[in-house]
Amino acid sequence: MLRSGRFTVCNSEDLENGSAICVRAGGHLIALFRAGEQIFALDDTCSHAQASLSEGDIDINCMTVSCPLHGAIFDLGSGEALSSPATSPVKSYAAEETGTEIVVTIP
Ligand code: FES
Repeated sequence: MLRSGRFTVCNSEDLENGSAICVRAGGHLIALFRAGEQIFALDDTCSHAQASLSEGDIDINCMTVSCPLHGAIFDLGSGEALSSPATSPVKSYAAEETGTEIVVTIP
């Protein structure tokens, strides 16, 4: 069952700079990304087909992730699809680091 709220999803040390992990928050599968001091949270499943964006290649300079299956590029902040074959965005969520933990808000 999907729920909304604020969810502590992992410890800060679980998410290294330039990397991603897949977590669950309120029943949603969320891809968490770290680019320096910034944390981003997107739906983990690509909007094109069944692929996990947390397994994609991250570009921390462009703040993007490319899907591991067909290579569509998504904006880490907005979830916007920036290249084909994806044409729809993935949902983005607010994520923050609170002390030693990372919290995701599902509206
Ligand atoms: S599954 Fe992601 S681009 Fe096709």
